[in-house]
Amino acid sequence: MPTLNIVVATVYGGALDVAEQVQPVFEQAGYDVSILESPSIDDVTVKAAELTLFCISTTGSGDYPGGLVPFAAALKDRHPDLANLRYGMIALGDSSYGDTFCGAGRALDALLSECGAIRQGERLEIDAMETFMADDAALPWVEQWIETL
Ligand SMILES: Cc1cc2nc3c(=O)[nH]c(=O)nc-3n(C[C@H](O)[C@H](O)[C@H](O)COP(=O)(O)O)c2cc1C
Repeated sequence: MPTLNIVVATVYGGALDVAEQVQPVFEQAGYDVSILESPSIDDVTVKAAELTLFCISTTGSGDYPGGLVPFAAALKDRHPDLANLRYGMIALGDSSYGDTFCGAGRALDALLSECGAIRQGERLEIDAMETFMADDAALPWVEQWIETL
């Protein structure tokens, strides 16, 4: 059974809710799913799943939610080789924050790419100004994403 880690970074629970809503879609597609809220570098290297989906909201001024800060700092400092990491990116944000819209998801995407990880498909950016329930955008995106894998 293929394995999937969903890495969540949230302040108010929206990104975790997205992860929990999409989990059964992956399970129906045959994946063994784990949700990780405090990821470590090992989770994307030696203990990496066959596929990783990041569900990342933004706080402050384009900042990472607290649970992701050590992980992002370790990526930046240690620059691990992530050539074997296949991942997708769902970024949650609010366009009323202007230039920092989805800043955390975008920054993490850039960091992962600098470490050699391969993103599968385009990043999904969910704008709280347009989408009241983030799941409404995430579920159809995930269904399509699975088909392209
Ligand atoms: C204090 C605060 C700061 C925020 N800063 C940003 C930001 O800089 N950029 C952005 O796109 N969204 C920002 N947001 C919006 C959140 O990212 C958005 O509401 C998201 O859906 C929250 O997800 P969560 O429930 O997983 O924390 C901010 C929200 C709050 C409350």
